[in-house]
Amino acid sequence: MARPRIQRPDLGGPFPEHVAIIMDGNGRWAERLGWRRVWGHREGAQSVREITTACAEMGVKSLTLYAFSVENWKRPRREVQYLMRLLARYLIEERPTLMSNGIRLSAIGRLDDLPEVAMSALRETERRTAGNDGMQLRLALSYGSRTEIADALRLVAEDARAGVLAPEDVNEETLRRYLYAPMAADPDLVIRTAGELRLSNFLLWQASYAEIFVSHACWPEFRRPQLLEAFADYARRVRKFGGLIQDCPAPAPVRAERRAAEG
Ligand code: IPE
Ligand code: IPE
Ligand code: MG
Repeated sequence: MARPRIQRPDLGGPFPEHVAIIMDGNGRWAERLGWRRVWGHREGAQSVREITTACAEMGVKSLTLYAFSVENWKRPRREVQYLMRLLARYLIEERPTLMSNGIRLSAIGRLDDLPEVAMSALRETERRTAGNDGMQLRLALSYGSRTEIADALRLVAEDARAGVLAPEDVNEETLRRYLYAPMAADPDLVIRTAGELRLSNFLLWQASYAEIFVSHACWPEFRRPQLLEAFADYARRVRKFGGLIQDCPAPAPVRAERRAAEG
């Protein structure tokens, strides 16, 4: 089975295993060049290809891409139609790249909202890549974190009513089992492009302890060098998860520095 040889640059610290990206700024990028917004979406698809391949080559285990939010249905009909057609085309045209990089594709979100052409392309690409054992690529489509949590709670209530789940057994781990991708590990790093400092309803539960990196590059400009910049920044972070410095894995020089600062 095809699988790229893992080539990981030494960034002097840990590498994120699970990366999630809010791919923003397509419209602004196009408008800055005097083009229609949708050209930004088209160019953004090139970034998807480059970043996905780069992550697979660097041994990232899972990559979640926020491609279309539940709120994005509010956009003008023509833009939504363009995005859905682009999605269907991407899902078909990327199959050889996904296969040659050993990538498994899946999706999270209210997938029933998708038009038939996108849905059938998605199901077929999922089927063809299901046997790959490399990076997991998850597309967030018609995704909203509050919707995901509300959907999960509805299923919890149904199971409680059916008697298969006792209310006292509802805790963080049981609730997780009702999310769209129960087996997915939490993201280590959430990247947002185009400079906005917000999560826009993305992985609110899962990103509780994610490191956040905001790039000023718009998504069509976000390529390998910008990804490496985000990873290099991540390598310098100290993750404490509410504990203290000595409890957490961190690059040795950073640990020493922080310990000295803490006295
Ligand atoms: C991100 O780019 C793509 C989607 C949300 C579908 P935008 O279309 O949001 O671009 P800006 O933020 O308006 O520049
Ligand atoms: C977030 O971008 C959604 C995706 C990247 C798919 P938006 O452009 O929709 O977010 P806001 O409106 O700036 O918060
Ligand atoms: Mg935007």
